[in-house]
Amino acid sequence: MAAVIASRGHLVMGFDVNDRAVEAINQGRTPVAETGLAELIRANSERLQATSNLAEAVLRSDVTFVVVPTPSDANGGFSLQHAAVAFEGIGRALAGKSEYHLIVLTSTVLPGATRFGLLPILEAAAGKRCGDDFGLCYGPELIALGSVIQDLLNPDFKLVGQFDQRSGDGLEALYGSILVNGAPCSRMTIENAELTKIALNSYVTTKISFANMLAELCERIPGGDIDVVSGALGRDARIGRRYLTGALGYGGPCFPRDNHALSFLARELGVNAHLAEATEAVNDAIVGQIVERLGLEIDSGTRVAILGLAYKPGTPVVEASQAVSLARALAAAGAEVVAFDPLGGDEARRELGSEVLVVDTLHECVSDAEIIMITSPDPAFQGLGAEDLAADKTTVIVVDFWRILDPEAMTDRRIEYRAVGKSVNDGANSDRLLALWGLSFAESS
Ligand SMILES: NC(=O)c1ccc[n+]([C@@H]2O[C@H](COP(=O)([O-])OP(=O)(O)OC[C@H]3O[C@@H](n4cnc5c(N)ncnc54)[C@H](O)[C@@H]3O)[C@@H](O)[C@H]2O)c1
Repeated sequence: MAAVIASRGHLVMGFDVNDRAVEAINQGRTPVAETGLAELIRANSERLQATSNLAEAVLRSDVTFVVVPTPSDANGGFSLQHAAVAFEGIGRALAGKSEYHLIVLTSTVLPGATRFGLLPILEAAAGKRCGDDFGLCYGPELIALGSVIQDLLNPDFKLVGQFDQRSGDGLEALYGSILVNGAPCSRMTIENAELTKIALNSYVTTKISFANMLAELCERIPGGDIDVVSGALGRDARIGRRYLTGALGYGGPCFPRDNHALSFLARELGVNAHLAEATEAVNDAIVGQIVERLGLEIDSGTRVAILGLAYKPGTPVVEASQAVSLARALAAAGAEVVAFDPLGGDEARRELGSEVLVVDTLHECVSDAEIIMITSPDPAFQGLGAEDLAADKTTVIVVDFWRILDPEAMTDRRIEYRAVGKSVNDGANSDRLLALWGLSFAESS
């Protein structure tokens, strides 16, 4: 955010409790891995600085965005511990500032957290009142790792949860100067914005779990093909094609916890949480069902290759990754699991320890594998052919969760190809439907 805002001509002063992040920014380096970020920081270093002195950052700026972690707590909500520290520090700085200042909370929180959890800390530390002396907004970012810069500059819309008109006007004007695509602002109360933010992610997870249920159904009907079904479904303007692919479940730092937090909120407020809970239950069951669903025999020592460990392509992040859970589950079932990811190898090694061998090349990963699972639609795996996967083998099972391989290339006699979401055994699937419908017809006639 700091680099993107600087790239649009603003002077930005970052503050972080982590001195390494401050140092990196001041040396023109990126403290985190993200597409295009190193270049953006370098190109805008004259407008982008960082400090370890929060008061300095507040005194020398007009607006403060608070983007600290809000980790999931034991109840399923979001912890405000870091945000509370930040708000107290900002409040102390505001005590010594005479000009109006706008504070924008960007971190993901649940409804009520900003106004009832954090604002009192700010007002007490500042000895001032919100609305009179300073403004407050909830302004989350609707971004995805790997495309953060693009998403920040070209969102579908911006959410502005405003304490009052003046606060919202300030944030909308600032967004207007940052956005490239002139996206509209949806302005609302702070609580409505807090709910909208997690509702967005929760809705997408619902769509993913729904598509994964359809994919499983497709595997059990003759000629079943999730791409055909979701391609047609997606043409309906009420539905849309995105997130209907039907493959592995969702993962990463946001989707699972946001949906989980929505169900926590619903329960706490006496609202039925079944829908969000069902979405999560479907997602959590996927890894456990895979081996059974695909009819794979995993004997002790079966060598299984996993291609893709990050929770999605284009990022090294393995947090809540379905592929990591799958690797772990297969290892626990006795398989000898070897895995590769173009970006996430180091993070996966730290996460998986000695349970799974994470290797540095695709070739090393697949060379002796009896089963190869392609768990990510990463472009690095898209063009793989028979020689890449079956060289020096008499037989190999290839499981393609995202159906990214060319089916023609998989007709090689050494390869048993399983595309997830497509009927594997039309004969057995026909028999199952015959048993269902033939019987009911016989009964009714
Ligand atoms: N990563 C995403 O794609 C994404 C998307 C939407 C929303 N969010 C939300 O944004 C928030 C931040 O997420 P993130 O991924 O950037 O987290 P992160 O852990 O990568 O980075 C947070 C930074 O905050 C710093 N920090 C911690 N306490 C601080 C304090 N008191 N004062 C100043 N700095 C402090 C940390 O040192 C770290 O550099 C979370 O609420 C998250 O849910 C993240």
